[in-house]
Amino acid sequence: MAGKLMHALWYDSYGGGPAGLKHVEVPVPSPSKDEVLIKFEAISLNPVDWKIQKGMIRPLMPRKFPYIPGTDVAGEVVEAGSGVKNFKAGDKVVAMLSHLGGGGLAEYGVAKESLTVVRPPEVSAAEAAGLLVAGLTAHQALTQACGVKLDGSGPRKNILITAASGGVGHYAVQLAKLGNTHVTATCGARNIDFVKSLGADEVLDYKTPDGAALKSPSGQKYDAVVQCASNIPWSTFEPNLSANGKVIDITPGPSAMWTFAVKKLTFSKKQLVPLLLIPKGEHLAYLVNLAKEGKLKTVIDSKHPLSKAEDAWAKSIDSHATGKIIIEP
Ligand SMILES: NC(=O)c1ccc[n+]([C@@H]2O[C@H](COP(=O)([O-])OP(=O)(O)OC[C@H]3O[C@@H](n4cnc5c(N)ncnc54)[C@H](OP(=O)(O)O)[C@@H]3O)[C@@H](O)[C@H]2O)c1
Repeated sequence: MAGKLMHALWYDSYGGGPAGLKHVEVPVPSPSKDEVLIKFEAISLNPVDWKIQKGMIRPLMPRKFPYIPGTDVAGEVVEAGSGVKNFKAGDKVVAMLSHLGGGGLAEYGVAKESLTVVRPPEVSAAEAAGLLVAGLTAHQALTQACGVKLDGSGPRKNILITAASGGVGHYAVQLAKLGNTHVTATCGARNIDFVKSLGADEVLDYKTPDGAALKSPSGQKYDAVVQCASNIPWSTFEPNLSANGKVIDITPGPSAMWTFAVKKLTFSKKQLVPLLLIPKGEHLAYLVNLAKEGKLKTVIDSKHPLSKAEDAWAKSIDSHATGKIIIEP
């Protein structure tokens, strides 16, 4: 592929939203020893993609401009690095690119073998691409932070999942229901039936007084909350938690970090736990297998061609997606 050009989108400064994305022709990257070069069939967006563009994670990301955003891809291996053991040209895969390097909004990109997994024919490229940041975050929050066992063993837990109609939330509801749980979920009125269909035992409209107060209709106290919405204060969670209840906050702002520190230092039984995704290939393989078995579905909000990736970007910034936003080269 050396010397071949491809279509990609990058930005060369912070800010600018969809208009800051520029369509460019750039060389197809070459895989290093432990990487595979993938021809993309689907790319899934996450809020972190536009948060990096907004400068919300500066100076860590991006390391340099111009930057091709996007990390969640599915496609076909076209070349494997010399040290790659498990993949060869022609394999259908799903892979997570590094946030530091980005590279997703393109026709081709390179992924580490360690974060690449075979995609079975039962799972479409779009469904597989959705599973990456969103599915892995839901999995990490439930299994590691909340201690839910997805084989149904383990003590019964009452779980609250906020923003259950979004990318992370819709996976979190489905995964939680594989465990021994009672799930309360929040979403907007238009998505109540949808979130029930994912398996939630009770659903709250977050724009009603009881919904805003996170009050379970059946009076449950939550052992764990997977907090996927933003800016809900600790004072709202606190009265709804069981004695040892934990809020797993995947969107921690400064006040959540303050609560985290105070609860830790005062040995409070009720805790706030900020969560940052640490992606693992074995967890991705687990999720892909659940999807293959029909136990975990990716709901697709919308599909957009790469030539109109700005529309997908604007949709993600709007923050009203139901499920995952997908781009197809
Ligand atoms: N810490 C990490 O490693 C990590 C990993 C992944 C994601 N995140 C963060 O987690 C958040 C969620 O990500 P996502 O991909 O799920 O976002 P998303 O798909 O954009 O979420 C959109 C959904 O959230 C719903 N929503 C928004 N505010 C709500 C509220 N107060 N109560 C109930 N529902 C609400 C919206 O419903 P309506 O349209 O009805 O308003 C919409 O369906 C983002 O801030 C993201 O950056 C963090």
